[in-house]
Amino acid sequence: MTPSFPSLRLRRTRVTAWSRALHRENILTPADLIWPVFVTGGTGVEEPIGSLPGVSRWSLDLIAKRAKEAVGLGIPCLALFPNTPADKRSDDGREALSRDNLMCRAIRAIRDACGSDIGILTDVALDPYTSHGQDGLVDGAGYVLNDATVEVLVGQALNQAAAGADIVAPSDMMDGRIGAIRQALEADGHHNVQIMSYAAKYASAFYGPFRDAVGSRGLLKGDKKGYQMDPANGEEALREVALDLAEGADSVMVKPGLPYLDIVRRVKERFEVPVFAYQVSGEYAMIEAAAAVGAGERDALVMETLMAFKRAGCSGVLTYHALLAARLLGR
Ligand code: PBG
Repeated sequence: MTPSFPSLRLRRTRVTAWSRALHRENILTPADLIWPVFVTGGTGVEEPIGSLPGVSRWSLDLIAKRAKEAVGLGIPCLALFPNTPADKRSDDGREALSRDNLMCRAIRAIRDACGSDIGILTDVALDPYTSHGQDGLVDGAGYVLNDATVEVLVGQALNQAAAGADIVAPSDMMDGRIGAIRQALEADGHHNVQIMSYAAKYASAFYGPFRDAVGSRGLLKGDKKGYQMDPANGEEALREVALDLAEGADSVMVKPGLPYLDIVRRVKERFEVPVFAYQVSGEYAMIEAAAAVGAGERDALVMETLMAFKRAGCSGVLTYHALLAARLLGR
């Protein structure tokens, strides 16, 4: 049957590949990707992570190689996460302040290998360093103390900046940490170190494989609902973003990714600042699980989800599929 408005045929522009290309509203390039990598000790060590198939922890030498590979593919930034040895984890997470911790050594290894060809983003939070797996200091009742934690986070961020981090990314959700870190960076002469705030970070069930990767899952006592956001809330995310921007964040992040694209869109429209999303470990694992049982085709699932972030308004995406996506885009 002829449509009732025969002149309005939206399919007209979809008929051929050239026309679809011409009318495409959003593009994804390797420059949109931040690649999170897990660091472990030793040399020549690769440790696969069971709940994150295809992702491994790498020792410093291998991390440096991966960084070069990322540069070659046009990926502009790496996000580093350490698997701190068990004997260096403590109640107060003091290893986070050591100049020679895995994180600082990884920063230097990447810098030696790649110079300033790649950005290095570091996570500011204590969970890879504490014996209880929480992101901050806990009191006797297990409550994560805000202001005392912020003081340690400031030291951690300064330590990372001194080692050469380009972007510090506080993922802890303590109140006031962005302002405190910004002030300290300025006072210490790190005027050009960026802060990408995990501004709207939810208490999510999608972080499980990450906690395996940094070795905090078995250690974690309780949950993180006392500081990470309630998945039911949207307005509160806007308040978090407003505060972090006022306190000096250069860019903000929404995390997890796909289940929270509405938040990405609201933040972008309200604040008109660079917004990033973290397609987290559980999201990666779901795509891999779907591909493994033949429920979808991996490459197509990856590219479609990454494009969804662009469409929602993201400047870029942290994704464990960064290398794969960059390879597919480079074809
Ligand atoms: C730690 C941190 C987490 C992630 C990034 N930084 C886990 C958590 O908050 O428990 C999760 C990333 C992922 O799941 O891929 N502060």
